[in-house]
Amino acid sequence: MSDRSQPPVLALRGVDVGYPGAPEVLDRATVEVCAGRRIAVLGANGSGKTTLLRTLAGALRPTAGQVLWHGTPLQHRRSRLNEHRQRVQFVGQDPDDQLVSADVRRDVSFGPTNLGLPAPEVRARVEEALALLDLLPLADRPVHHLSYGQRKRVALAGAMAMRPAVMLLDEPTAGVDDVGVRDALDALARLERAGTTVVVSTHDSDLAWAWADDVVLLQQGGIRQGSCAEVMSDADALTASRVALPAVVRVGAALGLDLLAVDRPRTADDLVALVHARG
Ligand SMILES: Nc1ncnc2c1ncn2[C@@H]1O[C@H](COP(=O)(O)OP(=O)(O)OP(=O)(O)O)[C@@H](O)[C@H]1O
Ligand SMILES: [Mg+2]
Repeated sequence: MSDRSQPPVLALRGVDVGYPGAPEVLDRATVEVCAGRRIAVLGANGSGKTTLLRTLAGALRPTAGQVLWHGTPLQHRRSRLNEHRQRVQFVGQDPDDQLVSADVRRDVSFGPTNLGLPAPEVRARVEEALALLDLLPLADRPVHHLSYGQRKRVALAGAMAMRPAVMLLDEPTAGVDDVGVRDALDALARLERAGTTVVVSTHDSDLAWAWADDVVLLQQGGIRQGSCAEVMSDADALTASRVALPAVVRVGAALGLDLLAVDRPRTADDLVALVHARG
């Protein structure tokens, strides 16, 4: 499903991005999003995860470098940006920045309706997204009556109903319970099977290790992108970025296991199975 020999779907090439009166957050940053590969953007608070995703989404304009869509530089003009934001959906870390309508169903249908899709198509997409994220029981409830985790689900459902080529999720699991995380990842896997490439930002190294194919590690003075196994078994790089070594990596290393193997153990259960298999 994944192919890193293909040119990236979406990329940043040598971008500078910052905010007035402060040092650049991204300094000559290059990042590649390849079709079908799961990317975790990993870094501490304030390291630039949100800034990076918003730049990929076209919401922040670099002062140098380019945002590339299939190799073509994005022009930060209204018509081009509108186009870009349909194919690249950004789900922010705070659901309240995203939710616009009175009730859940109307909120999820807002994007697809604005695409000008026929009503039956809108309905089908919305019902599917609501079902996938277990939101049908809440569909007629006012959004502002929902809990934080429930509102995050609604924001995700709204983006899913757009069926984007690339989905950028900023801290989708922060403040979400275990079942909510599993449901969200299952729903994303469904979207991936339909051809969407998913990028997730997180400071949770266990999540990144379990889920991602590739990691973009935000470090002081630069960005490192590589395979998850390679970047995340580099304890010094993680420490320098104020990111914990994943628990599976810590225990696996203590047991002398080869964590760079293709079939790396992703979860504690995988690790237990591997240890049992070795006798
Ligand atoms: N609107 C803004 N104006 C000025 N500075 C900002 C703004 N947004 C972010 N910054 C600064 O840019 C840097 C990167 O912030 P960003 O929000 O991208 O980090 P983050 O990795 O997403 O952090 P968190 O884990 O807390 O969400 C921080 O130093 C932050 O203070
Ligand atoms: Mg952030």
